[in-house]
Amino acid sequence: MAKSNSFTCNACGASFGKWSGRCDACGAWNTIVEETPLSAGPASKSLGARRGAPIRLTDLTTEEAPPPRTNSGISELDRVLGGGLVPSSAILVGGDPGIGKSTLLLQAAARFAQAGLKTIYVSGEEASAQVRMRAQRLGLADAPVQLAAATNLRDILTTLETEKPQLAVIDSIQTMWADNVDSAPGSVSQVRAAAHELTTFAKRRDMSVILVGHVTKDGQIAGPRVVEHMVDTVLYFEGERGHQFRILRAVKNRFGPADEIGVFEMTGAGLAEVLNPSALFLSERGEPSPGSVVFAGVEGTRPLLVEFQALVAPSPHSQPRRSVVGWDGGRLAMILAVLEARCGIPFAGMDVYLNVAGGMKVSEPAADLAVAAALLSAREDKPLPPETVVFGEISLSGALRPVSQTENRLKEAQKLGFTAAIAPSGGKPGGDSGMKLTRMGDLTSFVGEVFGAG
Ligand SMILES: Nc1ncnc2c1ncn2[C@@H]1O[C@H](COP(=O)(O)OP(=O)(O)OP(=O)(O)O)[C@@H](O)[C@H]1O
Ligand SMILES: [Mg+2]
Ligand SMILES: [Zn+2]
Repeated sequence: MAKSNSFTCNACGASFGKWSGRCDACGAWNTIVEETPLSAGPASKSLGARRGAPIRLTDLTTEEAPPPRTNSGISELDRVLGGGLVPSSAILVGGDPGIGKSTLLLQAAARFAQAGLKTIYVSGEEASAQVRMRAQRLGLADAPVQLAAATNLRDILTTLETEKPQLAVIDSIQTMWADNVDSAPGSVSQVRAAAHELTTFAKRRDMSVILVGHVTKDGQIAGPRVVEHMVDTVLYFEGERGHQFRILRAVKNRFGPADEIGVFEMTGAGLAEVLNPSALFLSERGEPSPGSVVFAGVEGTRPLLVEFQALVAPSPHSQPRRSVVGWDGGRLAMILAVLEARCGIPFAGMDVYLNVAGGMKVSEPAADLAVAAALLSAREDKPLPPETVVFGEISLSGALRPVSQTENRLKEAQKLGFTAAIAPSGGKPGGDSGMKLTRMGDLTSFVGEVFGAG
């Protein structure tokens, strides 16, 4: 008989035959723990030995109308869900400790309940009195949500079975405990078993379920990645310490576009929607200054302007510093290399700092040109022309590649008072936004035209 894997990574759920300090699958350190396998013993007989029951097959044409979605009225949340909550769907909301997950989900539960869904909020971390106190602070004390403080999965499922809610919020999946699984709460086996029970229950009983998942870096408890493939929708709730705003990001969605974001602001009265995030992210921008460039980006279906800030200075270190916040470090290295190789502008011997203002994270390749512009502007100590936004992808050859949604980007920029844009040539027409649009084919002409060097 094959030796069963009995070591599991708490971060990603990968299984191994032996212990090691570093997980080969996800690269995390000290996350591998010994686990009792779910079905130990000789159960692994060949499936072919016994005949299964035939499954009813259907064709792709269906008469059934899609089930109606429910809107919470929190439009930032509804949009990230792909247009409201789908009945019988399973959603995971992951996030760092203290970021505001319980606040968000209590607000969401209250609003879905007010919208007519029978809603139960199960807290495994806080007493009902604590949740009630939060509800009072958020002004939601009279929302028709039912509360429970429980961690025993068997009790919870029994209760859900009799109460028949249309939505259950489980805060958090890592505190749930299945008594038929022989390992500690928070371990991979427990989290997996609890998520599996709750999501299959949801599908069978026409109940939507929202699972809260803690993201942990130390691997003491199993991370949400163990659960991601079991649910329909994975949302991450992110934010930077010292910043008031929070971003709810869809990283997977079977019922809508992924990459959609919702922007919230943490206030004393809970999370407030930010309906015009571009204005928020640009609010701290002063006079045009060297190193500052406004990128006309798109997050999901919505245009979003953010400011890139760069600082380039002679380095006192033998190994110059490259520091990035809110953008990909590898991508920065690539842009520095392209500037050096294709435009003859070296950054060797210089410290380079790059930052997205406000703590926003940008992942679009369309930001390449804005990053290059910020780096050049900082290096040459020369601000960009005023009221100008920049976007475009840069290839290794130094060519500028057109990006999607040019018209959307320009419209948003115009709405916020910008009058000019620099973009790659060859893209779709920019529409009649009234913006002065300058198109360029490669990085060298950009350098020459904007900075008068090359
Ligand atoms: N009385 C208060 N007034 C204003 N803000 C508060 C108050 N109490 C808590 N907060 C804010 O709420 C945040 C915590 O929110 P919440 O408990 O929803 O986070 P969480 O992600 O569920 O945390 P945990 O990981 O502990 O479950 C705090 O960081 C704080 O900013
Ligand atoms: Mg919480
Ligand atoms: Zn791993």
